[in-house]
Formats: sequence, structure tokens, C-alpha cells
Amino acid sequence: MKPLGWIAFSTICLLLASCSAQGDVKENADSEASNQHVSQAESSLGEEVTPPDMHLQKFDKGENVQFLKASLNQIGYDLDLSDTFDEELTWAITDFQLQSENLIASGVYDEATKEALFTFFEEDKSIEPGEGLAAPPDQPETTDAGTEIVSNPYDELALINKNFALPEDYIPEDLMVPDVPFPFTEDLPKKYLRENAAHALEDLFAAAEEAGLEMYAQSGYRSYDRQVDVFAANASQHGEDYANKFSARPGESEHQTGLTMDVTSPEVNLDLVTEFADTEEGKWLAENAPNYGFIIRFPEGKEDITGYQYEPWHIRYVGEKVAKYITKENITLEEYVAQFE
Ligand code: DAL
Ligand code: ZN
Repeated sequence: MKPLGWIAFSTICLLLASCSAQGDVKENADSEASNQHVSQAESSLGEEVTPPDMHLQKFDKGENVQFLKASLNQIGYDLDLSDTFDEELTWAITDFQLQSENLIASGVYDEATKEALFTFFEEDKSIEPGEGLAAPPDQPETTDAGTEIVSNPYDELALINKNFALPEDYIPEDLMVPDVPFPFTEDLPKKYLRENAAHALEDLFAAAEEAGLEMYAQSGYRSYDRQVDVFAANASQHGEDYANKFSARPGESEHQTGLTMDVTSPEVNLDLVTEFADTEEGKWLAENAPNYGFIIRFPEGKEDITGYQYEPWHIRYVGEKVAKYITKENITLEEYVAQFE
């Protein structure tokens, strides 16, 4: 690590701290204030800003976010230096991850990404922005049905629902089979999850087993094409509108993210039914899933917000910090994301 970098880093910390200490800035003037911080900070950043030494993710706020943006700008990005971990920074982190070997593309500034960025600095390398993931377009693309298509499907906090769809050709690159019990032995795509979610699921299932429970993973990753068949089958049986209360249209299913698993237990014959919520396994899952980064994605009483009926079996990986917050506040991912709009 360059000692000069740390000297400059400390100087900027002091500078930003003294700006903040002026206080009395109204909430709605925050962005203007932070831009002032930025311009003062920027003029002192020089060549020596260093990547922050901490975990940061989408919607985080503060001067460390600014340092991260300034660091990325030094290797070739052109990010605005506001203090919010916004969509643009999530894109840049994802793009950097996709262009670096051995990094999981999550949009999260995690330990491995920090190390890779430090190495980039030490080796004085630069990046070609957009080579890994195209920058968000000014006008979002839409499906034939008019649903907005997300520009960053790798984002671990991506909101996928009836309003935001995944690109048709999106297939996660880090799918793996978690080492947990399945009620079938074949090597089917539905056994797979993205790496971070798979490891978190292994820890969750190990804890459930420790608690004397018998949980099974029933259905994880599902491709766009598979969802075409699943939704078509449900629609022909129940009609499109009714089917869409429990089955997502292609592109709109979280199962395509590789961050979702349906969980069940022998007490409900390994079915995916609401009675699962009343089993020991269902109760334990609702209480403990957040400790491993998962949320019950379609809670009871929130059908109007999620667009789907209660599914006590469908868990979605969002990372521990967000999962704990969402569960504690008794909100949905929709409501969580809306807090930052
Ligand atoms: N059952 C959920 C909504 C899905 O089809 O993804
Ligand atoms: Zn599901």
C-alpha cells in the first residue's frame, strides 16, 4: 500500500469531517452540501486517494462512498462524487468485478473487491468502463409487455417483480449446487444458486439441522426459458390473471436471479404450501433466515405490495444487513428500495 495514499486519505477524512462539523444543514439541502464537500475534497484528492477499507453496498451513504467513487475515478470511471451508493456506483463495482478474475459480480464492495481494487492501485492499472457490464442506459429498456428491464441483473439487491424484469438472456455466471438436502437426486438446474447465496444457504441449513429440524431445498435457479414453460402451464390450468398471483411471468421471476430457493419439509409432504408456515421448520425459517442473509420474499398481508400471494417457502438472498433490517421493520424488498427513491 502506498504510504502517501494514506496520508492523503487522512487529510481528506479531516477535511470532510470539518465540513460535516459545520452542521445545521437541512435534510433537503444534503446533496448540495455533499457536492460542496465533494468539490473541496476533490481539489485535495489529487492523485493519492485510496480505496476505503470497509464493506459498502447499495444505498449506503457517507464519505467512504465518496472515497470509493473517487478511487474508481482514478482507474478510469467518471462517477459523480455524491455520498450515496447509487445505481451508477453499483454498476461500476459490478463492471469492475466482471472485468477482474475470481470476483463474484454482486455490485457489493466486499472484502475480495476491496483487495482487487487495492491491487489495481498498486499495479497502476486502469480499466475500460463498460467492458464488463454496459453502463445504465438513459432510457430503460422494456419487455414487449412494457415491463422495465433492469440494467444490472448481477446486483444482489436487484428488485425483480411485476414492474422490473431480468433480461431474457441473463444467466448467472457463478451458479453452483449448495451442499444441502434436496428431495431428488438428479442434477437439475433448480438445484443451483449463485455462489454467495449457495454458501449462505449451506450455513442456514446447517443451523437448521443443528436445531433438530428437517428442511429440504426444493427449487432454486430457473432459467427464463423454463419460466416460459412454468408460467404457460399454470396459465393454461388457472387462467393468466389467477396464475400470475402465484407464478411469475418470464423475466419477472426471482428464481432467474439464482438468489432464491424454495424450502420445504416432510411435515407438508415436501410440498410448497402455506401450511409450511405452521411447521417447526417454517417457523424456524421465518425467524432465522435473516441471520444468513435471506428474507421471506412474499410475506402474508403484503400481497398488494409484492403482487404475489403469501409464500412462506420462498426465500431470497439480499445479504445479512438488509435481510435483518427488512425483517425487523416488517417490510418487503419493494418497500426497502422505495425508502431510497
Ligand atoms: N412463485 C414466484 C412468484 C415465482 O414464480 O417466481
Ligand atoms: Zn419460489
